[in-house]
Amino acid sequence: MTRFPKSPAMSCAPPAQYHALDSSSTGELAAQARAGLLSQPAAVSPKFFYDALGSRLFEAITELDEYGLTRAEAAIFDAHGAVITEAARARIGRPFDLVDLGAGDCAKAARLIPLLQPSRYLALDIATEHLRPALQRLQAAHPQLPMLAIGTDFSERLALPRTLCPGPALVFYPGSSIGNFDPEAALRLLAQARELAGSGALLIGVDLVKGQAELEAAYDDALGVTAAFNLNLLRHLNRLIGSDFDPRQWRHLARFDAARSRIEMHLLAREDLTVRWPGGQRHFAAGESIHTENSYKWTLPDFAALLRDAGWREPRHWCDPAEGFAVVLAS
Ligand code: AVI
Repeated sequence: MTRFPKSPAMSCAPPAQYHALDSSSTGELAAQARAGLLSQPAAVSPKFFYDALGSRLFEAITELDEYGLTRAEAAIFDAHGAVITEAARARIGRPFDLVDLGAGDCAKAARLIPLLQPSRYLALDIATEHLRPALQRLQAAHPQLPMLAIGTDFSERLALPRTLCPGPALVFYPGSSIGNFDPEAALRLLAQARELAGSGALLIGVDLVKGQAELEAAYDDALGVTAAFNLNLLRHLNRLIGSDFDPRQWRHLARFDAARSRIEMHLLAREDLTVRWPGGQRHFAAGESIHTENSYKWTLPDFAALLRDAGWREPRHWCDPAEGFAVVLAS
């Protein structure tokens, strides 16, 4: 993981700018969570994983032996980073903004900035409490590069006002987070990314289809970190909507649905129970589930077709040696 210099360099850096774009307000998120709990079957967005503890549990997941995605992507950038960034720069051919979707701790972009040399760095994330200090540290390492943190729930809609992103953009979406969107939503997001990029390009990480046992182990690890990540969503909902979920009454399930080419994560009620929150409640029978996440696994031809349908052209990809993960450049 990239480490950034702390103070004294920090004190010389201009303050990284922050812009709150849309109303991913607590009230709006709470309404979405309640609607998901009341839907039949119950399903809530995976964005509810990422409170402060959830973000740290996800970081722990990326260190697990079973979860190879993050290492595979890093290996691709280690082996081919110079070629990939040169290809991206050549395609765009003029100064561009680096737009980082789901920037988190900005660590992935931090490795590419010296190679890409963007004119500006725009870091988008729904969880800005994590993003803002990370961006300030990155700003200290690159005091000349204008940086902007943008708080937005781009899973609802990805669009930036021209005033924020006037020129071509390299849209950077690493980590196979595109896999957390079903194909129609992925198509919509990629089409919005195409619009945003202008005469720019897309650099995206995608996890590829592999064997069922390997996939299920990646989402149900021996240490139970992914189970804790999944169960922590209930604690987050308790804070958000005032519900009385007891995580001990629930268990983690991850299974690969080969027909849909996706890992599904669920929380299963261990017993008959009723969850209550101000103004509502829901009964769950023993074994009934809350669907918390899909993680789609793509083949390269299907992902190329998705990109084409979203308006992207000439995809070029780089894989890790096991061919389990791809980084794709398109324009
Ligand atoms: C963030 N996203 C790409 C992860 C994934 O693999 O779908 C989230 C995750 N869920 C369980 N483990 C990791």
